[in-house]
Amino acid sequence: MLAVYATGFDRDNPLAGLEVGERPEPEPPPGWTTINVKAAALNHHDLWSLRGVGLSEDRLPMILGCDAAGIDEDGNEVVIHAVITDDSWRDDETLDPRRSLLSERHPGALAERVAVPRRNVVPKPPEISFEHAACLPTAWLTAYRMLFTRGRVTPGMTVLVQGAAGGVATALTVLGSAAGARVWVTSRSESKRTECLKLGAEQAFESGARLPERVDAVMETVGKATWAHSVRSLKPGGTLVVSGATSGDAPPAELTRVFFLQLSVIGSTMGTRDELERLIRFCLERDIRPAIHATMPLADARDGFQAMLDGDIVGKIVFTT
Ligand SMILES: NC(=O)c1ccc[n+]([C@@H]2O[C@H](COP(=O)([O-])OP(=O)(O)OC[C@H]3O[C@@H](n4cnc5c(N)ncnc54)[C@H](OP(=O)(O)O)[C@@H]3O)[C@@H](O)[C@H]2O)c1
Repeated sequence: MLAVYATGFDRDNPLAGLEVGERPEPEPPPGWTTINVKAAALNHHDLWSLRGVGLSEDRLPMILGCDAAGIDEDGNEVVIHAVITDDSWRDDETLDPRRSLLSERHPGALAERVAVPRRNVVPKPPEISFEHAACLPTAWLTAYRMLFTRGRVTPGMTVLVQGAAGGVATALTVLGSAAGARVWVTSRSESKRTECLKLGAEQAFESGARLPERVDAVMETVGKATWAHSVRSLKPGGTLVVSGATSGDAPPAELTRVFFLQLSVIGSTMGTRDELERLIRFCLERDIRPAIHATMPLADARDGFQAMLDGDIVGKIVFTT
């Protein structure tokens, strides 16, 4: 089958280890099932994998991809949940110390077919296209949990989203504004800021700009480049939710502000199957859909990876089979 896979790691030139070509069909173990992929979405996670973050040499070659929507063995339209837990785990999947994401230990979703545990298959409503559904399991689920589970954002709050054009960030903007929050965003480029206003942001600022007032919550996926601005943008008692560090780790922690203003700094990772089902319902009820930057055939996946590497996108890149 056609698949997009990693054959090696390169921190500076991640696409050096990227291959698009034939891989063996999935061999699902007991309790797993094979999904015929109709659409699969690209995430920054796939670039991290090609840099050797979260993936080890002994697992190569590895099919990349966390996200897919497709058809199950009984002909049902489904979305896959990308968090794979130990068989014995019964709690919140994101808290299983042995959890992995598809493509870390098990072959991923950027392929014509992918095997997943049966419990990781979620019904896809017909109103949501395969392309839109494929964006939900990673970026959109992460945004949902950041806002509502971890950040406890409620209507009327002001929420700042840093690095607004990314997959998680556009989801934060659309979901946050649909839930009645006032969403402010920062982005490095004017054209991206304009696009983010169309997605529901109330105001858009240059990265690092002084805001008209301090905010109730900040959603961080950028890391080093925006961390200090995030901490300084919060009201006393405000909440900073962090799920990524695209520009790097280890910024100054701004500890004095954290304790003096009694800020909460909260980590967030992916989400549960239940949250994915609630996210799907929320998308249906509010009639919102993921922002898709480009849709292209799986065979042309390298172009999508290059666009993400160049940082030249607003929203998601989706591959179709
Ligand atoms: N913990 C989890 O479960 C989880 C889940 C999903 C993603 N993540 C992480 O979250 C991050 C975002 O993922 P994604 O898939 O949304 O990536 P993406 O679509 O490639 O978006 C990256 C965004 O980061 C911003 N950015 C990058 N470098 C920047 C810099 N130097 N200064 C300012 N902004 C910068 C950009 O914003 P502008 O161009 O608008 O400025 C860009 O839109 C990644 O690090 C990913 O690994 C974590």
